[in-house]
Amino acid sequence: MNLDTLKAFASDGGRSILDLFEQDVDRAHVFSASTGDMLFDYSKTQIDTDIRAALIRLCDEAGLADRRDAMFAGAKINETEERSVLHTALRNLDGGPVDVDGLDVMPGVLDTLQRMRVFAEEVRGGAVAGAGGSFTDVVNIGIGGSDLGPVMATHALAPYHDGPRLHYVSNVDGAHIADVLRQLDPTRTLVIVASKTFTTIETMTNARTARAWMVDGGGEPARQFAAVSSALDKTQAFGIPEQRVFGFADWVGGRYSVWGPVGLPVMIAVGSTAFDAFLRGGQAMDVHFRAADWSENMPVMLALTGIWHRQVLGYASRAVLPYDQRLLRLPAYFQQLEMESNGKSVAMDGSALTIPSGPVVWGEPGTNGQHAFYQLIHQGTDVIPCEFMVAAEGHEPELTHHHRLLLANCLAQSEALMRGRSLDEARQRMADKGLTGEECERQARHRVFAGNRPSTTLMYPKLTPFVLGQVIALYEHRVFVEGVLLGINSFDQWGVELGKELATSLGPIVDGAEGTETKDGSTAALVAYAMLHRETE
Ligand code: F6P
Repeated sequence: MNLDTLKAFASDGGRSILDLFEQDVDRAHVFSASTGDMLFDYSKTQIDTDIRAALIRLCDEAGLADRRDAMFAGAKINETEERSVLHTALRNLDGGPVDVDGLDVMPGVLDTLQRMRVFAEEVRGGAVAGAGGSFTDVVNIGIGGSDLGPVMATHALAPYHDGPRLHYVSNVDGAHIADVLRQLDPTRTLVIVASKTFTTIETMTNARTARAWMVDGGGEPARQFAAVSSALDKTQAFGIPEQRVFGFADWVGGRYSVWGPVGLPVMIAVGSTAFDAFLRGGQAMDVHFRAADWSENMPVMLALTGIWHRQVLGYASRAVLPYDQRLLRLPAYFQQLEMESNGKSVAMDGSALTIPSGPVVWGEPGTNGQHAFYQLIHQGTDVIPCEFMVAAEGHEPELTHHHRLLLANCLAQSEALMRGRSLDEARQRMADKGLTGEECERQARHRVFAGNRPSTTLMYPKLTPFVLGQVIALYEHRVFVEGVLLGINSFDQWGVELGKELATSLGPIVDGAEGTETKDGSTAALVAYAMLHRETE
């Protein structure tokens, strides 16, 4: 990506956003994008018509339209793994054929989806049951993309949850599975082992522990285990009957997999009709992404806002701030989606990236974050672009006053970030409180807000399954667009491998085998400390 033209605009990153609103009364409309009932407002940034035009030129220079069409058409755009990238096929409910290597994948996708629907409804209705009766609880064992998506969606869709209780175990820390299983009846619990590869050490360790717990407690793993994986030979070897295995192809990346069998626990929780609505929301965003002009294209403009802030202005992180308690796991989900996808320092052709990779993504729901880390966002020395999101209304008609307060807080934060408070204003406030002289000056300085801090706001009518689908697909395509502009492969994740390999070699050493001498001094000393201080063998 050649940023020369844009770098010429970098000094505009410091100009007053408030002035931009004064110069253009229509700014909020000009610098926003919508699709269906969803609105993305990026007017509280320093982007103006010239900057937007220069950003959009990047899309054309990078051949974004061709890359996008290649992805949807099943081309092998994940070049380091020689794979297609077709999570979009999982929500392509009525969009026609999608070919990989000359074969239409849609019949297989729709067949698996139908099997999921039947299984989910049988679990919900009790036709599929455990040794002790209908399932009261479902435990999903998985990690990363086999966990974060369904966890996030289960929280998000709580108002629609009318199936068995759901629990998620991801961490290999025995505390996680112990705390979950302790509350459950091993004869009425369904365990879903979700792992694309079915080799992930955390997941397989937890799956074996769950199986032993079930057998000890009188449950029957053969009827109470299901698997979600693309490694069908391995699910069979684990002993999960074929009819309980829901497969997906290698062209679905883990962090993009919630739309297919990885979403099975969500479907069991909310039912197949609500899950279909989630898929349709994703599909609607796909249609928009493929059809809208760049300047009106929500994923593209979200991506270009990200490029402007990270690659042009150099802001190292961005905060995702849903004013929606049920989106409490969305920041964690986006962390994997964005940082595993675009945290790369090598371009597709193997050359070193000469511009910054994707930013650190982090966040928490508002209003909680306001009482924790917003201090730094408002008065810290770093500029952190904030991505707010909020619904026009909540799901609790008897609590509309809560929702209005939530909405007011969300809007107040973006306004405060932009408006700030000058030293003169701060002085006046101190003077109004009766302070004078040096004390007035000293106190006033602590109460200055630099302001002019950029933010975007995504608004939607209500957090329904359809809207959740739109939001997730919006961010997926944002990541895709940013990856294309960076010239990287957003669909591999080699950066996670080294740690896995070293953990494998450290396992026996931590167990007491020889080998600390092969490690550096720090690692050897830390192993020695653990061996000295443990009471159990
Ligand atoms: O270690 C990273 C990763 O490979 C993620 O990309 C993936 O979502 C996660 O591990 C889990 O992998 P699997 O579904 O194969 O167990």
